[in-house]
Amino acid sequence: MNTRMRRIRNNPHLRPLVRESGLNLSDFIYPLFVVEGENIRREISSLPGNYHLSIDQLEKEVLELEDLGIPGVLLFGIPDHKDATGSSAYAKEGIVQRAIKEIKRVSKKLLVITDVCLCEYTDHGHCGLLNDQGGVENDLTLDYLAKTALSHAQAGADVVAPSDMMDFRVAAIRKALDEHGYKDIPIMAYSAKYASSYYGPFREAADSTPAFGDRKSYQMDYHNSDEAMKEIALDLEEGADMIIIKPALAYLDILQRAKDKFNVPLVAYQVSGEYAMLYQAVKAGLLGQEVIYESLIALKRAGAGLIISYFAKDMAKVLKEDKIELI
Ligand code: PBG
Ligand code: ZN
Repeated sequence: MNTRMRRIRNNPHLRPLVRESGLNLSDFIYPLFVVEGENIRREISSLPGNYHLSIDQLEKEVLELEDLGIPGVLLFGIPDHKDATGSSAYAKEGIVQRAIKEIKRVSKKLLVITDVCLCEYTDHGHCGLLNDQGGVENDLTLDYLAKTALSHAQAGADVVAPSDMMDFRVAAIRKALDEHGYKDIPIMAYSAKYASSYYGPFREAADSTPAFGDRKSYQMDYHNSDEAMKEIALDLEEGADMIIIKPALAYLDILQRAKDKFNVPLVAYQVSGEYAMLYQAVKAGLLGQEVIYESLIALKRAGAGLIISYFAKDMAKVLKEDKIELI
């Protein structure tokens, strides 16, 4: 055999033709953090380059995203009021509900995907309701998640994305949506969501750090991989339409197994800690900024169809102008 591998590498004009994966603008979803107040566009210190926006600032942001060609946002709300049941999460005029309406007023094109969880809204910072022992009560929480998802749909959300990791929440949300005439609203379920240290910068940004304990009784143990396949299978049975794997880069094995096993759209969430690591390493001059592109390609290669990323805007510019100038 005379297989010279370098024959397909030598010519820089041939190399792109034999690539097995790539990134498109249409692969990206951009996380957006909405806060109460007016005239607020405040850089998030733990996520430089990303902003807390008040509702009156959304128009400008949405037009920018549209202009860049980013297809969708993942919406997070940071309310003024927190309580034991996270009532601001499902308030008709809650922060997310008003933000959805504003985005929809400005753009007919931008997809609005909403993160459905209670941790930004509960005074204890957990993703569900607590029992007397301070544990997170699964079945009691389901109603509240369903109410939250329904209120998002009623406000005009295109897709709801439950991130709480309670058992049966996809079924509860599907039922609530169906019963109220939202049969066509898809559920993008965070199915394989690990209890991870990579969420640190997000919790600072979303003010959702648990007041005590951790999330290990509901989010997955990162020693496990078979368990992720089971979580995904259950969510699909309950009616999930799309599946999120989170975090992304340290969980490529999960992504690849999911791709091999399930024929559904797979979403990789490049989380806040991944963003922070790459951003800081590039900023410090330790790594060239192409490392960001390389990391995102890894997600595609492993099987991701879509990527949720804080780099989405930067990548849109890169992909449009064909030059890397991220930070
Ligand atoms: C809420 C939620 C979290 C993230 C997305 N939705 C935080 C958490 O579970 O503690 C993390 C996103 C990121 O780190 O970028 N449940
Ligand atoms: Zn949560």
